[in-house]
Amino acid sequence: MCRRACAICWTRRNSNRLLNEASGRFEVSSPATTPAPDSPFSLDNAAAYLAWREQKLSGCPSRVEDLVVDVHDPRCLTEAEHDAILQRCRNTNVAVYRSDCGADPDKAIPKQLGLQLGLTHLDRNLLADDDGITALSLAAGGARLDYIPYSNRPLNWHTDGYYNVTRRQIRAMLLHCVRPAMSGGINALLDHEIAYIMLRDADTRYVQALMETDAMTIPERIDEHGVARPAQTGPVFSVDPESGTLHMRYTARTRSIVWKQNPETLAAREFLERLLASDTPYIFHVRLEAGMGIVCNNVLHNRSGFAGSGDDERLLYRARYYDHM
Ligand SMILES: [Fe+2]
Repeated sequence: MCRRACAICWTRRNSNRLLNEASGRFEVSSPATTPAPDSPFSLDNAAAYLAWREQKLSGCPSRVEDLVVDVHDPRCLTEAEHDAILQRCRNTNVAVYRSDCGADPDKAIPKQLGLQLGLTHLDRNLLADDDGITALSLAAGGARLDYIPYSNRPLNWHTDGYYNVTRRQIRAMLLHCVRPAMSGGINALLDHEIAYIMLRDADTRYVQALMETDAMTIPERIDEHGVARPAQTGPVFSVDPESGTLHMRYTARTRSIVWKQNPETLAAREFLERLLASDTPYIFHVRLEAGMGIVCNNVLHNRSGFAGSGDDERLLYRARYYDHM
C-alpha cells in the first residue's frame, strides 16, 4: 500500500466503513473490546505485546522538539514534509508542525492538511461550523458559553469525542493556531498507547477492566428540548477491528461521569490519574504559536488556562475525524 493518501488505498483501508444512506453520515465499524488472538492488545498474547512494546518504546521521542516538523505551507506539503509528519504519527501518534502561514485565518489550512494525511471524514459535532471545522475562541454568548473549550479556563485531560456513540468515535484530530493567547494555552500530550503500556505493565487487570464495554458512562445531556444526547456507555480502550489500532475514550472530569463500580476499574482509573499528574517524560508540552498546529490519532491531551482578550484573542481551528492516520 502506498504512503500517499490515494483513493485506492483509502478505499482498501475503509472497506468496512459505512456511509449511512439515511443520514448521509459516515460511520465506522464498532470497535472491538476483544482483540484478535494475534493482536498485541490481546491479554492472552504476551509475546505479541512484548514485541510491540519494545518497538513502540524504542521509537518514542525523548524531547518535544523531536515531534516538530517544519513545513512551508500545510495546504501543499512537499513529499518530505508529508512523510515526516506521518513518520511521527506512526511512532507516537502525534506530530507538531511549524509553518510559514503565520496568522493567516484561511480555514483551508487545516482542511487541506487533513486531506493530504488521509483524513477525509470530518465529525460535524454540535458546535462545529458549517464546514465541519470548529473555530475555538472565547465565547461571546450563546450555547458556547456552557463549554470549557470556548473559555480561557484549563481543560482537563481527555480524548476528543469521548461522549460520541460507539460507531462515531474520533480517531484523529487536528488543531491549527491562528493566534496564540498572550500567555498560557499550553497543550500537554500523552500518546494513549504509552498510557496503555504503563497500565498493562503495572497490572494487566487494569487494561482488562478498561476494555469492559461498561467501564465508563457519560450520562445523557438534557437541554430545553429534552434529551439532546443519550447516555453513552463504553470501554476506555478498544481495538479497531480492521486496522488493529488501539483507540482510547477518556475524560478526567469528575462530574457527569459514571465509572463502573468495581475495584479493578476504580484502581485503573486512579492509576491513570496519577500517571497524567506525574512528570513522566512521555508527556510533552507544546505552546502553539501562529501558524503552528498539532495533528494526532486522538492522543490524550489537555490545555492550560490562558490570558488575553479583545482583537488579539486566542484563535485555533479544530478538526475531528473518523479516520485514523
Ligand atoms: Fe480536545
